[in-house]
Amino acid sequence: MPRWRRTHTCGELRESHIGQTVVLNGWVNTYRDHNIFVFVDLRDRYGMTQLVFEPERGLELFRQAQELRSEWVIAVRGTVARRLPGKENPDLATGTVELKVEDMQVLNRCPTPPFEVVEITEEAKERKREKVREKGKELEGREEQLANEELRLQYRYLDLRRPSLQRILGLRHRLNKVIRDYLDARGFLEIETPLLGRSTPEGARDYLVPSRLFPGSWYALPQSPQLYKQLLMVAGYDKYFQIARCLRDEDLRADRQPEFTQLDLEMSFVDREDIFHVIEGLTAEIFQKCLGVTIPLPLPRLSYPDAMLRYGTDKPDLRYGLEIVDLCGVVPQTEFRVFHEAVASGGKVRGLNARGAAEAFSRKGLDELTEHAKRFGAKGLVWIKVEGDKLTSPIEKFLPPPAQQALRQALGASPGDLLLIVADQEEIVCQALGNLRTRLASLLNLVDPNKPDFKIAWIVDFPQFLWDDEEKRWVANHHPFTAPLEEDWEKLERDPAGVRAQAYDLVINGYECGGGSIRIHNPELQARVFAVLGMTPEQARQRFGFLLDALRYGAPPHGGIALGLDRWVMILAGTTNIRDVIAFPKNQKARDLMTGAPAPVDPKQLKELGL
Ligand code: AMO
Ligand code: AMP
Repeated sequence: MPRWRRTHTCGELRESHIGQTVVLNGWVNTYRDHNIFVFVDLRDRYGMTQLVFEPERGLELFRQAQELRSEWVIAVRGTVARRLPGKENPDLATGTVELKVEDMQVLNRCPTPPFEVVEITEEAKERKREKVREKGKELEGREEQLANEELRLQYRYLDLRRPSLQRILGLRHRLNKVIRDYLDARGFLEIETPLLGRSTPEGARDYLVPSRLFPGSWYALPQSPQLYKQLLMVAGYDKYFQIARCLRDEDLRADRQPEFTQLDLEMSFVDREDIFHVIEGLTAEIFQKCLGVTIPLPLPRLSYPDAMLRYGTDKPDLRYGLEIVDLCGVVPQTEFRVFHEAVASGGKVRGLNARGAAEAFSRKGLDELTEHAKRFGAKGLVWIKVEGDKLTSPIEKFLPPPAQQALRQALGASPGDLLLIVADQEEIVCQALGNLRTRLASLLNLVDPNKPDFKIAWIVDFPQFLWDDEEKRWVANHHPFTAPLEEDWEKLERDPAGVRAQAYDLVINGYECGGGSIRIHNPELQARVFAVLGMTPEQARQRFGFLLDALRYGAPPHGGIALGLDRWVMILAGTTNIRDVIAFPKNQKARDLMTGAPAPVDPKQLKELGL
């Protein structure tokens, strides 16, 4: 092998290497047989180098070169040469040189891959579009399309050869490193906690592992290290972190995987401001070191009620306006029955102003917006086009001049604006308008995907409990170990809905990228919260006896947070698909298409487990 050991990587050669004899190892990215030359782009994770095979170097070598196919693994020895004038490739770092091959060893062959690994960079695509535009031709059908994702997941090791995925995994490595360095420098200890443990309720279903030695008993894989990190605080490890795997059996979405990674962190003798300080510094460091982007600190804060009112969600995308406005005060001046009924039954009438968008939506477009709002529970969507001093709307006749005036004022309307209004129970209004808001932003191109823009904010003052209408009981909004705001303790039993939690979320561009809280460190308070959640003292003892005991044995005040690192990488890499940031992800149905997991097992294994 030493004879064929690479002397350089495929991304390394420059003009300064011209004249040198080098050995490269890599994969055949593309080959072009021009009869008098064979050109090969050789690829490894560092880049790509053009190889030239010429017949005068020996016919045997040339014939071998003509047989090369995509994704073969080869070693080549040759001389670095300057490319012919005009043949430079500005898309490659090695684009001014090429390797004139003198000798080759085929290290491994590859059948025709099920899809092309070749990837055109965004810059190259743009240059190509430019060329096509210059020639005045249509672009249609010329865009490189990625093969179907299921196929790419099945051959993940081939898909992972794509430079863009290699770049993302590189970014992910960088993120982990920045986190470790930053926290290490501030005295945090990285401590691992068990995977086989007892269930920690984070609101999802557990993955269970049967015990062989105790038939009928089960381990639960952790939904997060929540209880272990609290126990580490009791144990005196006052600054802990872990880059931890979490497992949750829940319905998957574009930003959810059954197996994901958190930066889990906990501190003792702190209040919320101390946690914010650490995380804000870390956030700035991450954006600086991973992207070279400066994030202004301190990060803005938004209260939960404010976020729900203005954006209809507790994870607002703050990169654009389209703020929701409460219109209940305008309702009395209108004659629209639906508005009056909503307010009378305790609901809300709210709307938003899509500035300048009146022209952008035809009747059909407005019908589609209405359908979108309905998908989120709205019964309908009122639209109003502001045309000079006239309002055009299906409910125009129910809007006498004073109502028109009040609406214009409340929504800050000017000619050309499109006003959209939903009346319903508050939750539905929030859902419908919140989702309409993101839909409009996308339809109106309010976010430029090519311009990195990061809007980061804390959401604070969450309610401690939410009413679960199916189970007819209060459930924890964050988790049951979150401390209520001290001034609200007296409301715990009498008015659970009014209790605010010392909880916070970190939101970036509409993604919930982290969440945490100050914890309960007092066993009596913990028992009261369990009781509100409908647990009898016996049930609480049975499930969380170890925690209640630990809290009695000198638990310090403590709090922490967990950042969803997969989502962080998505944001840093500019992808909306969580599978792009995980080396071996599951598909939307939680299957690993490459290994076939989950898969049946040997009956013998089941028998041993007593199943
Ligand atoms: P929480 O459940 O909010 O908090 O999770 C913290 C962060 O983890 C990310 N996240 C996910 N990412 C990908 N796929 C998933 N299925 C998924 N679920 C959650 C989100 C989320 O903000 N123990 C608490 C933290 C604490 O209180 O310290 C917890 O796990 O970005
Ligand atoms: P390509 O873009 O590599 O397919 O090449 C287009 C044309 O340019 C072909 O006719 C090639 O023969 C020629 N060509 C490209 N690069 C070189 C080179 N380094 N030396 C000689 N001819 C080249």
